[in-house]
Parts: sequence; structure tokens; C-alpha cells
Amino acid sequence: MNTILFIEASPRGKASASRSVSDTLAARLTDLYPSAKLIRRNLAAEHLPHLDDTTLRAISTKDADEAERLKEAARQSDQLIDELLESDLLVIATPMWNFGIPSALKAWIDLVVRPGRTFQYADSGVLGLAKDKKAILVLASGGVFTSGPWRPWDFVEPYLRQILGFIGIVDVQTVRAEGMNIPDLAIGAVPRANKAVEELAL
Ligand SMILES: Cc1cc2nc3c(=O)[nH]c(=O)nc-3n(C[C@H](O)[C@H](O)[C@H](O)COP(=O)(O)O)c2cc1C
Repeated sequence: MNTILFIEASPRGKASASRSVSDTLAARLTDLYPSAKLIRRNLAAEHLPHLDDTTLRAISTKDADEAERLKEAARQSDQLIDELLESDLLVIATPMWNFGIPSALKAWIDLVVRPGRTFQYADSGVLGLAKDKKAILVLASGGVFTSGPWRPWDFVEPYLRQILGFIGIVDVQTVRAEGMNIPDLAIGAVPRANKAVEELAL
């Protein structure tokens, strides 16, 4: 394990359940792989841009001259993709917001899911290019989504697994701090998730 990339989306600092569990995971990974490089990208502080017309052209053109002319506009996407491709393990720590992911995380996804860099179309269908990586999802939610009536409302884990699979990351484990808005569950949610971190296959 050489490089571990954490993508963290909650803006809630020390109050954040997903960040607290991701801290536990970072500590465990540091114990297991003391020489690994840990990158922690705080999306709440970074404000990645939404894709605009110029950036879209810069990251999708097949014309070498146009790509050269627009290379500045592609730079952030290039850097984020390089960082992802160089990592052996990707950790995405995120809250559920309105049953999906925060737009800060979607902005990161829009910058790294890019034809020719992280996926390509082939005769056999789509080929993910971000291969030989594992991922861990650390998810926090106010309600409970692993069972019960709200399960179909979870557009976080199914979406993240689908989009990661699309770029070639299929070895994905999940840890959840759920029920954060349900007092009886909230109290034990982070300790339970921290225990689940101890049980992850790393
Ligand atoms: C803007 C916003 C939207 C939310 N939407 C949902 C939701 O759709 N479903 C849910 O179960 N919890 C929802 N919550 C609760 C959060 O998922 C919960 O507080 C969680 O702990 C947030 O993660 P964090 O502690 O890492 O910030 C929402 C919270 C906020 C602030």
C-alpha cells in the first residue's frame, strides 16, 4: 500500500460523523501501513468548480491543438485524476444530503470521471481505467437505510458503487454511521461504525 486518498465531503468539522469515522480509519491505516502516503482532500474547504463550457471542452476534446490551447482549463481535472490513479485505496467519507451525495462530492466526481483517463468505450462496452484499486465508503445519515422502509431512498451507496464500478473500482466496502437524527440510535452510531472500521479487510 503506497498511497491512500481520502475524499471527505462533510463541512461539519469535529461535529461530523463521517469525518470522525474517517479519522478512525485513517489511524488504523497509518498503523497498518506506516510508510503509506495519506492524502486527505477536504472538499468542504476546497469548493471545486462545477463544469463549465470551457472545462467541458478541455476535458473531452479529441483535437490535440484544442487540448493544448485549453490545457489550463483541464488542469484541475488532470491533477485530481492523477491523484486518484496513483492511489491504491480510495476512501470516500460523505454525509447523505437529501437522499444523495452533497454537490461538493458530485463536483469531484464530475472532474475525475473522464473519457480517456478513467474510462473508455470499447467494443465490449465500457472499460474502467482506474484499475487495481480498492475503495471504502464511510457514510453518515440521519435515518436508517440498511434495512426498513427507507432503504429504497438511499441514493448514496448505490450511486457511489455504480460510478466507482464504471471507472473500474469494484472492490468496495462500506461503513455506516446511520440514524444520526434518531436520538436512540445516534448515541451509538459512531462507536458502532468505528468498530466496523476495526473489522474491515484492509
Ligand atoms: C442539508 C442536509 C440534508 C440532509 N438530508 C438527509 C437525508 O436526506 N436523509 C437522512 O437520513 N439524513 C439527512 N441529513 C442528515 C445527515 O445525513 C446527518 O446529519 C449526517 O450525520 C451528516 O453527516 P456528517 O455528520 O458527516 O456531516 C441531512 C443533513 C443536512 C445538513
